[in-house]
Amino acid sequence: MLARGREAGAWAASQPATSPAGTSLIRLDSNENAAGPCAASVKAIAEATQRSHVYPFRYDGVLEAAIAKRQGVSPANVLTGCGSSEILLNAVLAFTDERRSLIAPVPTFEEPARRARQLGRPVHDVPVGADLQVDLDAMARLVPDAGLIFLCNPNNPTSVALPLDRIRSFVTDALARSPDVVILLDEAYIEYADGGGVASALPLALASPRVLVSRTFSKMYGMAGLRVGYAMGQPALLQRLAAWSLPMSVNTIGLHGAIAALEDTGLEARERARNAEARAFTVQRLEALGAKVPTSHANFVMADIGRDCIAFRDACRAQGVAVGRPFPPLSNYSRISIGTMAEMRTACDVFTSVLKA
Ligand SMILES: Cc1ncc(COP(=O)(O)O)c(C=O)c1O
Repeated sequence: MLARGREAGAWAASQPATSPAGTSLIRLDSNENAAGPCAASVKAIAEATQRSHVYPFRYDGVLEAAIAKRQGVSPANVLTGCGSSEILLNAVLAFTDERRSLIAPVPTFEEPARRARQLGRPVHDVPVGADLQVDLDAMARLVPDAGLIFLCNPNNPTSVALPLDRIRSFVTDALARSPDVVILLDEAYIEYADGGGVASALPLALASPRVLVSRTFSKMYGMAGLRVGYAMGQPALLQRLAAWSLPMSVNTIGLHGAIAALEDTGLEARERARNAEARAFTVQRLEALGAKVPTSHANFVMADIGRDCIAFRDACRAQGVAVGRPFPPLSNYSRISIGTMAEMRTACDVFTSVLKA
């Protein structure tokens, strides 16, 4: 239970896995993939447990090559990590210092700003707009002081995303405003992108010596427990990041699970369709209850429930459904991860009983 990790936060980690009624809890609080790893990964993971005595360096370069093949890049454009969290935290170490700040939206995935503050590095928080979109103009004005810009697209927890053409002009402008700023585009949810010109910024990372893209096997690929993530960019920039890597940070089991998932070419389409169906159902039920739900490009929604999200969270929890923690200053928004269709049917009945009470 304690291994629940930082995505749900300490509060959720301390909670039991059962509802007060003793039935098992529906966990919609950590943006995990309820479908789990694909069958090929499960098989590869089981087989790899037999090789648990073997250091992962035996498989040096194998995962990088599989990712590179899938992404159409060179293995030198890929750096793997212990989840994308390792990439994000090391980017703070590598690209900020006492004078060169981190710029990050608020709210967003909090680990980079948390690490920067721990290290005494300046952090510029940039509130999202009323439409929950990242305020790119405000970020651009801060660039001259910055070492690292963190831009999560689609953004967690807001679920909305910016189209690639807006990201492209922001990146061009930011690079021109500073000779050494680095831009990290966190694409943990990009495989769920749902039209509107939202697409990966990988071409920007390949074209620029100061742009990185990070990805993870935790969301679309259903392997959050195995901790595999990676960055893509130009080799010289990846080398600056790799200087901070943990030795052998991707373990033997995760590595084999990830490779098998990459070989399952139908996985992304299947999971996108599964998520889209359960998400559409959830949005429709929430909207029928009067909630406002911005267009999600992820495996979660951020619903404006028009009331305090902590009271809502606690009331749902009492009925066996765990939803996301508060994300200040969005106190009337609840972040709800998309589970299986069966889970969402039950969860939406609980939301109905709580919001109608
Ligand atoms: C936007 C975003 N980036 C990065 C991560 C870290 O993921 P992991 O370390 O599992 O790859 C998460 C986890 O929820 C996330 O939401």
